[in-house]
This record gives sequence, structure tokens and C-alpha cells, in this order.
Amino acid sequence: MLSRHIKAALALTAAAICWSPVTVYAATTVIPTTSFSDYSTFESFWAYLYPWGSDHNGSARMVGNSTDHIHIVVASSTLSLIATPTSNPSPPTSTANPNPAIHYASGAIHAQSQITVTSTNGYTISGEFSAPTTFGTWPAFCSLSFNSWPPETDIGEWKGTANNWFNTFNTSSIVKSTLVSWPTDLSFHALKAVLTAEPDNADVRIDFYMDNVLQTTQFGQGFVGQPLWLIINLQASGSAGSPGPPGTTTYKVRNMLVTRTGS
Ligand SMILES: *[C@@H]1O[C@H](CO)[C@@H](O)[C@H](O)[C@H]1NC(C)=O
Ligand SMILES: *[C@@H]1O[C@H](CO)[C@@H](O)[C@H](O)[C@H]1NC(C)=O
Ligand SMILES: *[C@@H]1O[C@H](CO)[C@@H](O)[C@H](O)[C@H]1NC(C)=O
Repeated sequence: MLSRHIKAALALTAAAICWSPVTVYAATTVIPTTSFSDYSTFESFWAYLYPWGSDHNGSARMVGNSTDHIHIVVASSTLSLIATPTSNPSPPTSTANPNPAIHYASGAIHAQSQITVTSTNGYTISGEFSAPTTFGTWPAFCSLSFNSWPPETDIGEWKGTANNWFNTFNTSSIVKSTLVSWPTDLSFHALKAVLTAEPDNADVRIDFYMDNVLQTTQFGQGFVGQPLWLIINLQASGSAGSPGPPGTTTYKVRNMLVTRTGS
């Protein structure tokens, strides 16, 4: 199993070297595009729920583990996170600030290894996303600090409108957000973020792309050396408005690839 992954990673690296006109460093694959191919591969790169558990600042409680795949599904090389309305959740409110009432069971996953941008490396994070934009749905793909918050940078965040938000938080109130139009037809579109250290060795430069076109560059203050969790989740209400969606909503991700250049 593992050797197949290593071979796939080597093949990807070789492909990058052959096709890139200006390759300086060979890339190391951190999460290969095969990570959603089956549950055993999935569980070697990802873990269920949030790093801290099932609850966060929206009205969905995340549910799933290696034997419960109702809300966190891996099939056809695609991750599906599925939110369904619930009744009588226990406890009735989120255990996380600001303790909103729970109205949904949904899915979240996080990468097992954190990424840390240093002066000698850089990361490229990409994937294809089918994101619901219904009022009250709040899917996201973000990287969040482990030790403290912020750092946070959001490569995908949809707040119930036909926009994706690229965000970088220096503090909870000093935030750069760039909105890009997002189709409401659930078609897949590619998002990519390239993270590199600035020459001051403290700030991180983040170039954000949609469908391989650069959309914005943001800078995260003091992000160098900070371990970041990669999280994919389907929340509800919160920043996306209340009430949440009336029925089931599904958020899909495929071709997720995380590579590192340098050491
Ligand atoms: C998985 O979750 C279900 C409920 O959602 C629970 O009954 C089961 O014990 C859990 N299994 C593991 C391995 O944690
Ligand atoms: C965050 O900090 C970086 C580095 O100092 C700076 O370039 C950027 O403008 C700051 N963001 C905001 C929203 O002020
Ligand atoms: C919820 O927490 C996330 C960080 O995970 C943050 O980006 C967002 O602004 C918070 N939203 C609300 C409404 O509390």
C-alpha cells in the first residue's frame, strides 16, 4: 500500500520536473491526489472531525469515524461532506464559542500532519470544489493554527452567496478578504494557494488562484514557523446567515494535492 503511494508521489514529482518550465526545487508530495480513493488511503492522510472535536462556531455538529460514514463519505475519488437537519441533539448547543444551537449533523476532516512554512520551504495546496451556496450553508477549506488563533487563511469559504472568500487573518479583527464569483450550479472549480516566506522571515505571502488564474495575494503577519491545520468542513448558519438550509446539503472535494518545495 505505502509503496504504491510513494511511487505515485515520485511519479508526480517527476511529472512536475518534466513539465514545469522554471522548476527550481523538486516538490515533495505531502497529500497525494489519491487521498480520497478509498477509506484506508483516506485514513492514512486525514482524520475525522476537527482537530479539537465535533463542535465549532456554527450550527452543525460533525459526526463520523472509521465505521460511521453517513456524513463523511469517500467514493469515486471524491470526498463528500453531507449536512442533514437533526432534532434533539445532545447537548443542544455547540460546546464551542459562541455556543450556537445545533440544528445539523455534518462532516469535517483535517489533515493528519500540519504544515509549517519556514524560510527554506514553500507549500502549494490545491483541489477542486463543488460548494453549496444556498443561504445558511457555510462550507470551507481553511488552514488554522494549532497553538493559537490566528493564524488563519481560508482558501475556500462560502457564506451562502455566489462568492468564494479568500481570507487571511493577522488578528481576529485585522483580516484581508477577497471575494470571487462562484457558480451556484455545484460545478467543480479549482482553488489553489501558494504559501512562501517573505524575505523578513516572519510573514507569509499567499497567492490565491481560482481555475489556475491568480486572484489575489495576501500576507499573513508572523505566519512563518507556525504549524497550521488543514481543515475541510461543512458548517451551517454562523457567518452564512440564519436559518440554515431547509434540507440536506452536500459539499464535494476532489483532486486535493498538497506539495512542499524545499525542506
Ligand atoms: C463511530 O460512531 C458511532 C456513532 O456515530 C459510534 O456508535 C461508534 O462507536 C463509533 N466507532 C468508533 C470506532 O469510534
Ligand atoms: C497583515 O500583515 C501583513 C504583514 O505585516 C501586511 O502586509 C498585511 O497588509 C496585513 N493585513 C491587513 C489586513 O492589514
Ligand atoms: C468562526 O471561526 C472561524 C475560525 O475557524 C473564523 O474564521 C470565523 O470568522 C468565525 N465566525 C464566526 C461567525 O464566529
